[in-house]
Amino acid sequence: MAAEILDGKAIAGEIRQEVAADVQAFTASGAPAPCLAAVLVGEDPASQVYVRNKSRACEKAGIEGRTHRLPADAGQDALLGLVAELNADPNVNGILVQLPLPSLKDEAGQAMYDEREVLDAVDPLKDVDAFSPVNVGLLMQGRPRFLPCTPHGIVQLLLRTGHLCSGKNVCVVGRSDIVGKPMAMMLAQKNGSCGPEVANATVTLAHSRTADLAAVCRSAEILIAAVGRPKMITADMVRPGAVVIDVGINRVDDRLVGDVDFDAVAEVAAAITPVPGGVGPLTIAMLLHNTVMAAKLQSGR
Ligand SMILES: NC(=O)c1ccc[n+]([C@@H]2O[C@H](COP(=O)([O-])OP(=O)(O)OC[C@H]3O[C@@H](n4cnc5c(N)ncnc54)[C@H](OP(=O)(O)O)[C@@H]3O)[C@@H](O)[C@H]2O)c1
Repeated sequence: MAAEILDGKAIAGEIRQEVAADVQAFTASGAPAPCLAAVLVGEDPASQVYVRNKSRACEKAGIEGRTHRLPADAGQDALLGLVAELNADPNVNGILVQLPLPSLKDEAGQAMYDEREVLDAVDPLKDVDAFSPVNVGLLMQGRPRFLPCTPHGIVQLLLRTGHLCSGKNVCVVGRSDIVGKPMAMMLAQKNGSCGPEVANATVTLAHSRTADLAAVCRSAEILIAAVGRPKMITADMVRPGAVVIDVGINRVDDRLVGDVDFDAVAEVAAAITPVPGGVGPLTIAMLLHNTVMAAKLQSGR
């Protein structure tokens, strides 16, 4: 294996220590500990694990982590009611609605939950996932308030490992609202609002309709895969010497694998993130960072 392994877990550890120090300084100034409220609807096992991990990470950083549970069939109105309560609660600084919401239908055959309506209802000042239209709009305009956690984690990984993007060809595969789209936007920024060193990339945003995806990927000096298909990025799709960031988390035979065929691609790439231990831990670290930022914004400190 030739490639440098980009150790997301170690970098996330660094960031979590920085956040913990920040929390200490914040509370030493007389402020209450920042508080993150997670909303979990239903019993999805993966979502339960994610919420538990986030709550533990909060605790370790000195952030109060609350979990609000609703039964799967609580319905849209109950969920919106809970979000409204958390919006109004001055002790809650950040709100996270764990996705996906249950895909149940009511008696009339209508979906019981409208995810977009729920995310739109979160107070933008408490929107630590950065999913609200206000925060997406601010990012688009190059004056972000909160940065979305997964793309922000990737930016931190690139910065802290010295893989700078300015002037480089970057290909992002996947155009979801949570990862691909904001990732492309952050790297293409002109004014360095997401970190000058990671701005000014020439970004290609690829997706399921991209013609000759392999050729598009091969043109990239930095390739970011956020698709959700195990090992779909093969060695022949990677330019020799490229930096490869694997966002994918796929469960195959009880093992987690990424979107990148790790062993083969590591022979071609200059640097690569593993799965697990790559982008995943950074996502949680940036969520903690956003929660402290939210507490500071709300307290005016
Ligand atoms: N590490 C983390 O912290 C973290 C955070 C979030 C997500 N993830 C993981 O990242 C992966 C992607 O998540 P997501 O929420 O962004 O997924 P998503 O909403 O399902 O979007 C997937 C994207 O991949 C594209 N795509 C699907 N098949 C393709 C193909 N054959 N060729 C090219 N593009 C294709 C889709 O294109 P169309 O738009 O054309 O349909 C879509 O834009 C998942 O494995 C998820 O678990 C990890």
